Amino acid sequence: ISRHIMPFSYSSIKFDQKKKVDKYLHQFHLSDKTLMELSMRFRREMDKGLCRDTNPTAAVKMLPTYVRSTPDGTEQGEFLALDLGGSNFRILLVKVKGNGDQKVEMESQIYDIPDLVMRGSGSDLFDHIADCLANFLEKMGIKNKKLPLGFTFSFPCLQTKLDESVLISWTKGFRLSGVEGNDVVSLLRKSIKKRGDFDTDIMAVISDTVGTMMTCGFDDRHCEIGLIVGTGTNACYMEQMRNLQLMDGDEGQMCVNTEWGAFGDDGALEDLRTDIDREIDAGSLNPGKQLFEKMISGLYMGELVRLILVKMARKQLLFQGQTTPQLLTSGCFSTNYIYAIESDKDEEGLASAEKALRSLGLDPSAEDCAATRRICQIVSTRAAHLCASTLAAVMRQIRDNKAAEKLRITIGVDGSVYKGHPEFSRKLNKMVRRLVPDCDVRFLQSQHGSGKGAAMVTAVAYRLATQHAE
Ligand code: GLC
Repeated sequence: ISRHIMPFSYSSIKFDQKKKVDKYLHQFHLSDKTLMELSMRFRREMDKGLCRDTNPTAAVKMLPTYVRSTPDGTEQGEFLALDLGGSNFRILLVKVKGNGDQKVEMESQIYDIPDLVMRGSGSDLFDHIADCLANFLEKMGIKNKKLPLGFTFSFPCLQTKLDESVLISWTKGFRLSGVEGNDVVSLLRKSIKKRGDFDTDIMAVISDTVGTMMTCGFDDRHCEIGLIVGTGTNACYMEQMRNLQLMDGDEGQMCVNTEWGAFGDDGALEDLRTDIDREIDAGSLNPGKQLFEKMISGLYMGELVRLILVKMARKQLLFQGQTTPQLLTSGCFSTNYIYAIESDKDEEGLASAEKALRSLGLDPSAEDCAATRRICQIVSTRAAHLCASTLAAVMRQIRDNKAAEKLRITIGVDGSVYKGHPEFSRKLNKMVRRLVPDCDVRFLQSQHGSGKGAAMVTAVAYRLATQHAE
């Protein structure tokens, strides 16, 4: 840590800065009572999305996924999977070796999506995906095979069957023209056909939440929830068909994609949103949309911190009132900085804060570094607690469906924030246990869950299809 920090007594700085920041950000602190009330509010939103009459106006869409069965262990074969919508675009080749032991082998490659493509039209994006797929098949030496493919497309979609998925609206950092209102499977098929040098059999489109639940479901049959806290945030869970009024039939279960990122888009969170939340929304690609997600996920967390730093500097509470052009540039405070600044070792955290602030052209004092660390803690704690309250609502729904007094449940989790932030998972897990005490809950992290899960869903669909054909 630099010479600036040496002459001070760290603990007194820490205490003063903590008090100052806590006072300034008191609105970011959510009491257990508020979180419990919020959890009940979200449960009502879920109901609204599930009911036929209220669904059209519900903010939380509770989308049917057409995923009804989990693997039975007899699936086998080679499958391709595409994973689009997180921090990377990835292609996977998954070999499932049936015989009941569910052995899975995987090859995968990450591909870049150039900025030009990201800012262009949907057809360019799908052409690019087809190009990457061709490159991958070539590398694997399987370009002449027609393999079944599963597509993890992590955006809100209206599905009419497993392999037809109409994009409702882009979320996160995506906003390409000509895709909303269209079936992404047709778009991808068209781009593949245009190239004409390979073919695949697109069998399933799923959300990353579903992929995560399915992947974790192999290792733990109690896994009935999939949770993502990464670039965006969302969850899915196994719902009873009788509660899914949008679907015909009352028998069995289906996985529902809640799209909880849109919680609050109808005004339901106005009492909890702060000026900073409003500011981040106003400057985003999709103003007025995904308001809950914008309080939580990795795409926004760094920016929330940056906006707080700017506000506090302007109030003369930080950096002796100075700002720099970098500090004033949106996106300049990366969410990765937060992970380093919140290191459980005080000194490492403070050194990281100093480094981050210096990279923005600031000349921070020891107090500024301590205050920045506290700001990061407050923002990420609020995120973890907000997630805990919606997760608690989903858990209670499952418990009531089963009419179980004590629920035993596993939550499959993936996402850069859950995995990368040093404190997030602990805070989330702890608050979930506080909000639903009568529940035996296990969090299971998945590896490549979202992509691998698409291959698993495809493997099940393929097994069912070939059984039918016989
Ligand atoms: C956004 C998307 C959602 C996805 C989540 C996590 O909320 O709308 O479909 O599951 O991000 O990636």
